[in-house]
Amino acid sequence: MILYFTGTGNSRWVAQQLAEATHDTIFNIADYLKKDCIPGELLHAGVVGIVFPVHAWYAPRVVVHFLSKLRLPDCKYRYAVCTCGDDMGKGMNRLSKHFPLDAAWSVAMPNTYIPMFNLDDDDFCHRKIADARRAITSIADDVFRQKKVWKVHEGGAPRLKTYVLNPLFVRFIISPKGFHVDEGCISCGKCSKACPMENIQMVDGLPVWGKHCIHCMACLHICPKSVIQYKKTSQKKGRYHLADYL
Ligand SMILES: Cc1cc2nc3c(=O)[nH]c(=O)nc-3n(C[C@H](O)[C@H](O)[C@H](O)COP(=O)(O)O)c2cc1C
Repeated sequence: MILYFTGTGNSRWVAQQLAEATHDTIFNIADYLKKDCIPGELLHAGVVGIVFPVHAWYAPRVVVHFLSKLRLPDCKYRYAVCTCGDDMGKGMNRLSKHFPLDAAWSVAMPNTYIPMFNLDDDDFCHRKIADARRAITSIADDVFRQKKVWKVHEGGAPRLKTYVLNPLFVRFIISPKGFHVDEGCISCGKCSKACPMENIQMVDGLPVWGKHCIHCMACLHICPKSVIQYKKTSQKKGRYHLADYL
């Protein structure tokens, strides 16, 4: 079983590629969060993989919370793959305290966090995806052999990022407050459907953000009119669509 969580689709795509290569099946963690239950199939799974995006050098809190509750009595091999724009810090080590891991990898994918950074340019996105395809083939091979490997790109100052900056990010940055919609919204509701937290309600044809936002940026990037903004930071930036690079 491969469990995945995604905002803008990168982690779902990696999970799909991995599942194809290992002849496994994928499950969306967001579906289980909505139902507030744990997949019954997990009880008898011998190999369990998780795929998720890095949020501020750690896993999104909902993913950590979900994994902390999992009991896997028959599982012989657990692995994790994070997708990141650049690096993961010590996030995998921190995660493995809640969800012990036999193996871990990071896969670089196009960056989606435009409140603080720019989008990667087209060439870089294409290169990242081509490299990711190769990395996934190699990960699948390791998973098949149930190898105990740890190939995570930590980057500089990894402890500081994961154990100091991440809690500050969660405490002071993650909030729905900065999200708003400019004129031109066509009330299509795609933002609401894309939100993995079910945190966006359409009210009088316009999106309204609730308090469970995790800043995954799914709403902002999926808007077909690019009228969803985060504060003023997103106004002059492009939007990311994985499908443009596949
Ligand atoms: C809130 C947030 C925080 C992020 N933090 C990091 C980070 O610390 N390091 C990094 O390399 N990429 C970071 N990124 C980029 C994403 O991890 C990367 O683009 C990922 O592939 C997105 O996956 P998804 O499409 O499955 O949501 C961040 C993205 C978001 C939305």
